[in-house]
Amino acid sequence: MDVKELKNIVNQLMGNGKGLLAMDESVATCNKRFEALGIPQTEEYRRKYRELIVTTPGLETYISGAILFQETIRQTTEDGTLFIDILIKKGIIPGIKVDQGTVPMPAFPGEKVTEGLDGLRERLIDYYQKGARFAKWRAVIAIDHGIPTTSCIKANAYLLARYAALCQECGSVPIVEPEVLMDDNHTFEKCAEVTTEVLHALFNALYQQRVNLECMILKPNMILSGLDFRTQDDAGAIAEATVTCFLRCVPAAVPGIAFLSGGQAFEQASERLNAMHVKFGDIMPWTLTFSFSRAIQQPALEAWKGDDQQIAIAQRLLLHRGTCNAAARRGEYTNALEAHEG
Ligand code: G3H
Repeated sequence: MDVKELKNIVNQLMGNGKGLLAMDESVATCNKRFEALGIPQTEEYRRKYRELIVTTPGLETYISGAILFQETIRQTTEDGTLFIDILIKKGIIPGIKVDQGTVPMPAFPGEKVTEGLDGLRERLIDYYQKGARFAKWRAVIAIDHGIPTTSCIKANAYLLARYAALCQECGSVPIVEPEVLMDDNHTFEKCAEVTTEVLHALFNALYQQRVNLECMILKPNMILSGLDFRTQDDAGAIAEATVTCFLRCVPAAVPGIAFLSGGQAFEQASERLNAMHVKFGDIMPWTLTFSFSRAIQQPALEAWKGDDQQIAIAQRLLLHRGTCNAAARRGEYTNALEAHEG
């Protein structure tokens, strides 16, 4: 493991007031989002959409790293330039989702484990040669009657830790994503309880697998009620519960935490990240930023809808979300800033 090089990558990803752009939706997820907007679900439209994203002028002002999907890392712009080369030229570090999705966990109804360890060392070496310098693996933990079970939490923690150890061996910074899902109608307190248990299991597994905590990034959920729960707490309460949970569970050796958005409205995701910085900016031992997909991309995708005439406006909307989230990362996000574009 080249610790110096891994730390250098972490610093470039976390140390400059920017955040990460997750553009690693699987084919199925991307198609689902296209279908909802009437966009043709073809490889060419997925390519066009990703071209729109990576060629957005000024993207590098707010984005330090972009997480690609296996289809996207091989794709090129219309004129034949690899997306990964465009990102590198802009100073945006390319990363890659290396898990291969979730499958039902046998004997544990309603729970899932993530696949992808088979052949992972070889894939990591290949992606490194293509220019990727960090990777991502997502585990999902659902809250429902009687779940999550400790078995599911431990199985996913073990898989995340094995993945992270392999990444570090192969020169890639692991983004470790244990996502407690927002679906359903669980309470805020339940989310806090489950997230706490998940993070403790995760850091125990990372220790067992000898993962270097200084050379990784955590990608967690915020502490939120389920989307169907009757009330949603305000940004201040969410900030308080989320940062308190992390202070208790995430070692100070971890250099960076970059949130997933998980289905929150994009303004809420910015407002909540902002509240964490306003309340806790001075005492957090880690860099706290964003690694959103939907909460960055959704307005742009809705504006584009597959129409070439809409590319410029979609790119402006994408950049606007970058501006808002980078401001939130500094605790400087305001309604006035939000309203400024769109
Ligand atoms: O794995 C999930 C993505 O990287 C983040 O997506 O911000 O839409 O939850 P999201």
